[in-house]
Amino acid sequence: METKIKEIEARALADIEQATDLKSLEAVKNEYLSRNSEFTNLKKGMKDLSPEQKPVIGALINRVSTTLNDLIEQKKDIFYKKELNEKLLKEKIDVTLDGDYVPIGHVHPLTQTVNEIVEIFQNLGFSLAEPKYSPEVELEKYNFDLLNVPKEHPARDVQDTFYCDNMPSVVLRSQTSNAQARTMMNTKPPIKIISPGRVFRNENISARKNNLFHQIEGLYVDKNVTIAQLKGVLNEFIRLYFGSSRPTRYRSSFFPFTEPSVEIDVQCIMCQGKGCSVCSGTGWLEILGAGMVDPNVLEGVGIDPSVYSGFAFGMGVERLTMLKYAIDDIRLFFNNDTRFLKQF
Ligand code: DAH
Repeated sequence: METKIKEIEARALADIEQATDLKSLEAVKNEYLSRNSEFTNLKKGMKDLSPEQKPVIGALINRVSTTLNDLIEQKKDIFYKKELNEKLLKEKIDVTLDGDYVPIGHVHPLTQTVNEIVEIFQNLGFSLAEPKYSPEVELEKYNFDLLNVPKEHPARDVQDTFYCDNMPSVVLRSQTSNAQARTMMNTKPPIKIISPGRVFRNENISARKNNLFHQIEGLYVDKNVTIAQLKGVLNEFIRLYFGSSRPTRYRSSFFPFTEPSVEIDVQCIMCQGKGCSVCSGTGWLEILGAGMVDPNVLEGVGIDPSVYSGFAFGMGVERLTMLKYAIDDIRLFFNNDTRFLKQF
């Protein structure tokens, strides 16, 4: 048995010596050290040996097995490092080569305007209204009734507002003012919110009108809120958005949900007030609707108008963006032509 073991060892050593890569080394290991190899089978013959021979042969088998295993592992390590080096050399990356150009894109100009305006009002102490109080698909109740819009008001006409065929009291909201109604219904004053979002109107699409556009609604309700505060807040907004030296004017107006109501103009940014085609010769551009919240509205949402008062305002995001960047067609915002979008 001893000769047999030594003979196998000699063969195995020669085979290890001759192995040239990881694969052939694995084959050698398999041949001599796997469970079915000749060498492993020899161990099974141990039980037939005499008690004196057993420890001698046992020790020999162990030594040979360790030697072979160690040699194979050592060589494996060498081959592994060699193969890895070759692979790394082959796959070496030249970091000085030009990469592929991947355009990253950026925030849409309307979103930029919304972000800018929201930030201005946040700095003035307003918080974003909860999205759940500003849904785009809305009940007539919140879009019109609670905002004191009479049943026969032209804005309610199907010519102006999108209704749902099989649910006649459901509309696509025509103004973000629904957010005021819902917020006031669900929170106690003081309320100081700003709510940007999409609105929908049944318009003939043109350079000035689209049937989807964006508004930002603002609302401040507390004890002793006055029209002087309304002017202070909105003048500050205009100063920050259009620049410090832009004159403003307040014209009395009418909205069903405010009393008194005003429309606010800024001096035309194209002609500096001289009169041009953008301002239709007036020298002024209308940018905001606002007013003191009508007592009927407060009462309708459960706020006592003899204790609380408030002001509200609403503005069109497209219009404010068009004025700031002298854009002459609202449709440019929506047809996703990158030649237009890239300029912002
Ligand atoms: N909802 C008005 C519109 O769509 C804009 C507006 C005007 C909102 C006056 C207000 C407001 O909150 O007080 O034309």
